[in-house]
Amino acid sequence: MKVLRMTDLDLRGKRVLIREDLNVPISNGAVASDARIRAALPTIRHALERQAKVFILSHLGRPQEGKYDEALSLKPVAARIAELLGKPVPLKRDWLEGLDCEPGTAVLCENVRFNKGEKKDNEDLARRMASLCEVFVMDAFGTAHRAEASTHGVIRLARVACAGPLLVGELTVLESLLARVDKLIVGGGIANTFLAATGLGVGKSLEEPELHEVALRLIDGARARGAEIPLPTDVVVAKELAATAHADVRSIHEVRPDEMILDIGPDTAERFSGMLQTAGTIIWNGPVGVFEFDQFGEGTRAIAQAIARSRAFSLAGGGDTLAAIEKYGVEDRISYISTGGGAFLEFVEGKTLPAVAALEARAQGG
Ligand code: 3PG
Ligand code: MG
Repeated sequence: MKVLRMTDLDLRGKRVLIREDLNVPISNGAVASDARIRAALPTIRHALERQAKVFILSHLGRPQEGKYDEALSLKPVAARIAELLGKPVPLKRDWLEGLDCEPGTAVLCENVRFNKGEKKDNEDLARRMASLCEVFVMDAFGTAHRAEASTHGVIRLARVACAGPLLVGELTVLESLLARVDKLIVGGGIANTFLAATGLGVGKSLEEPELHEVALRLIDGARARGAEIPLPTDVVVAKELAATAHADVRSIHEVRPDEMILDIGPDTAERFSGMLQTAGTIIWNGPVGVFEFDQFGEGTRAIAQAIARSRAFSLAGGGDTLAAIEKYGVEDRISYISTGGGAFLEFVEGKTLPAVAALEARAQGG
C-alpha cells in the first residue's frame, strides 16, 4: 500500500480535517461502547501535540440527509472525546460555513450524514469540505468501504490528503493476515443474509438481499481454499424485537414466516465453539444475536467465550462486535480488534476500499 501518511507531515498551525468513524452505539443519550472513539484517540492526540487546528468529522447512524435529527447528534460522542482527552471538544453544527480553533485544540463537526449529498459522494459537498482544511486525513477504516463525500470525494479535492495512523495500522494488520484465515464465522443480520442466499426461509428476519451474490461468492471462495463459513443449523426466534419478547428455539428449516431470527441456537453455539477450539486463525465480524436483550445473547456469549478460550490467533471487527466483546469482558483475550465492520469484511473478501484507492491515487499524483 503506497499512500501519504499523516505522520510524515508537518501539521504545526495547519487546519487539519480528520475523518474518523465514531459511529458508536448510543443508549439513553450516552455512548454505550467507546471502543471506536478510543481507537481514534492516538490520531487525534498526534495532531493536537503537533499544534494542529484539529477538526474531527464522523457520521452516526443513517439519518435522512438534509435534516437535523437530535437522536443522531454527535453530542454524546463530543462529551466522551472531551472526557478521554481531558480537554473541551466543542460540537459545531454549521461547520460547513467555516471552521477555526486555536492550534492544539479540537472541534467535533456534527454528523456528516446530516448533509445532503454525503452518501452520493456529491462533488460540491466534497469541495466545501476540502476548502475547510490544509490537510485532510482519512482515518475512518470502519467507513473506508463507502465512497461518500467525506470518505472519497474530499480525498480527491483536498489540498493535501493522507492516511491516518488508525487506517494505516488496520490495513497493515489485515493485509498480513489475509492469507492465513481458516474459518469465517458470520453472525446476526449478516448470517441471515448468508442463510437466505443459500435458499433457506428466514421469515421476517433482517437481511440484505442485494448481498446474496456476495455471500455466495464468499462461501465458494472459502470452499475453494479448503476454508469454511459455518452457518447456523438452529436458531432462536421471536415474533417481535423487544426486551419482553418470548424466545423459541427452532431448527433452521422451521423458521415461520412471521418470525425473526434473533440468535443462534444452542446446538449451533456448541458446534461453533468446538470449531473455534481447533482453528488456527479466527476472524469474528458481528455478534450472532441481539445480545442487548439477554434472551437473545446466549449465542454471542458462547462465541465470545470460545474465542477467548481458543489458542488461535483471533481477529474481531465491527461496532457491535466491539460492544459484545466489552459486555462479555474478553478484550484481553482477543489477539487483534479491528474498528471496521463492513470495511473489514470487504477487505478480507479482497475488494478495493474506495477511500484507500483514492489515497493511493493521490500518492501517485492523481
Ligand atoms: C459501520 O458501523 O458499519 C460503519 O460506521 C459504516 O456505517 P454504514 O454501514 O451506515 O455505512
Ligand atoms: Mg455497516
